[in-house]
Amino acid sequence: MDSWNSIFKDKGKVFTKPHRDMKDIVDILKEKNSKRILDLGCGTGRHLIFFASQGFEVYGLDASHKGIEIAKTWLTENHLNCNLTIHRMEEKFPYEDSFFDAVISIQAMHHNIIKKIKFTIQEIHRVLKPNGLIFITVPISKLSSKNNHPNFEKIEKGTYIPLSGPEKGLLHHFFTEREIYKVFKGFDIKKIYLDKTKHRAILGFKK
Ligand SMILES: C[S@@+](CC[C@H](N)C(=O)[O-])C[C@H]1O[C@@H](n2cnc3c(N)ncnc32)[C@H](O)[C@@H]1O
Repeated sequence: MDSWNSIFKDKGKVFTKPHRDMKDIVDILKEKNSKRILDLGCGTGRHLIFFASQGFEVYGLDASHKGIEIAKTWLTENHLNCNLTIHRMEEKFPYEDSFFDAVISIQAMHHNIIKKIKFTIQEIHRVLKPNGLIFITVPISKLSSKNNHPNFEKIEKGTYIPLSGPEKGLLHHFFTEREIYKVFKGFDIKKIYLDKTKHRAILGFKK
C-alpha cells in the first residue's frame, strides 16, 4: 500500500475522532453481548482506540505498515492492546471461520476492483459469527453525470482512478445502492444511509 504509506508518512493520523455513528454501533454490540471486533482497513487506528478503550477485544487489519505503526504507538500511549496485522483485504483473512462478533470497515473497502471487493465480502461473511454485525462506509460517486471525467480514469464499470488530488492513483469503486444489496446478499441489510461525511453507511447482520 505505497500510496497510503506516503499519505500516513506525510500527514500522520488522517482521522483522530471516531465515526459519529459508532456510539450507536456500540449500543447494538452491547445489547448483543458482542465482544470481538475486526476493524478492516483500520488505518492509523481511531476505531481501534475507540473500541479497545470500551473493553472490546479488537483486531485491526490494514495493508499499510505505516498506518499499523502509527496505530501501535497510539495504542501504547493509551495503555491499550489490539491484535494488529499487515495484510491485504483481498487475500484470505488470517482468522478462523465464525471468529468475530462484528466487522467494521470505514472508508476502506472501496479501494479495489469489484472482483476483489466481492472476495473481501466473502471473507467478512466467513469470519463473522451467525448474526454478526457489519458496519461499513464507502464514498458516493464524485463523478458528474456527464460522460467525460477528465480527472478520473475509468478501470471498469463503477471503478475509477483519480488522476489528481490527495488520493491520486488510488482505485475507487463507487457503489450504487442497488449494487450494495447485490454484493451483500449474504447479509440482512438493515439500513443504508448517507452519513454526516457524505459516505454511504451500511448496517447489517450475517444471515
Ligand atoms: C481512508 S483510510 C481509512 C482508515 C480507517 N478505516 C479510518 O476510518 O480511520 C483507508 C485505509 O484503507 C487501507 N486499505 C486500502 N486498501 C486496502 C487493502 N486492499 N487491504 C487492506 N487495507 C487497505 C489503507 O491502507 C488505509 O489505511
